[in-house]
Amino acid sequence: MRSGRLHARATTFDRLLKPVHSWIWGNVERRVQKLLRFSEIEIDGGRDILRAAELTSDPVLRRLYLEHAIDEFRHGLMFRQRAGSVLRELPLRSNRMFQLDWPAPGGHGLDDLQIEKESDGSLLAFLHLSEKAAASRFTIYRDVMQHDPPTRAIFAEILNDERFHMNYTLTHLVRVAPERHRRHLWRARLSRLWKGYLRLATALASAIGTLILTIQYFTVLPPFAWFAKRAARRESPGWFPVSSERNGSLRRQY
Ligand SMILES: [Fe+2]
Ligand SMILES: [Fe+2]
Repeated sequence: MRSGRLHARATTFDRLLKPVHSWIWGNVERRVQKLLRFSEIEIDGGRDILRAAELTSDPVLRRLYLEHAIDEFRHGLMFRQRAGSVLRELPLRSNRMFQLDWPAPGGHGLDDLQIEKESDGSLLAFLHLSEKAAASRFTIYRDVMQHDPPTRAIFAEILNDERFHMNYTLTHLVRVAPERHRRHLWRARLSRLWKGYLRLATALASAIGTLILTIQYFTVLPPFAWFAKRAARRESPGWFPVSSERNGSLRRQY
């Protein structure tokens, strides 16, 4: 059994958001959505790490990356199976399920990672921070899942793996880049911060765009509709003769 050397605690930010997470996971339909989304994220992350195993020239890292990729695939399957079980227990309803990925995205945040462009050091730093974030988030999810013991057990099991991932990535980052590991970590932190900012800015822009379009719909469109109706009322009904200057032979289009 794996035991984490570093025992990741939930970050203050995640602990502050605990009521929000509790609300999100409290609804069974949202829970299914989140589990399916997590399944995708874990499997995608596993693919990226598998690619890293193909590219690295370090045999120890290759073995660890392979093990890591298998773990992520397994996590993806666990989430998907659990989503299926919860879904089967749901009564048939037509409620539209909605997705709330912000401010509670999935664990790893391996999105947009271009493995080919990363060195072993930069990739390990990025993976370490991603796994640390996942461990923090999954600690909270496990804690708020009191009402759903099977899902809670899945988070507890996955959390153990994430701690192992978090630890081996840091240990081997220090091994492959003994003098530059701190720099790699800071660059990875800034990159994650930038991506977080972009996610936030995109969500805000989308919300503002929706608001402005809604206001325009109710303020700009009604006068046009009123003018159109008034013009329609002034039109005489039925057919009427075309004036002689517009009634030439059809030798051109206009
Ligand atoms: Fe995972
Ligand atoms: Fe992981």
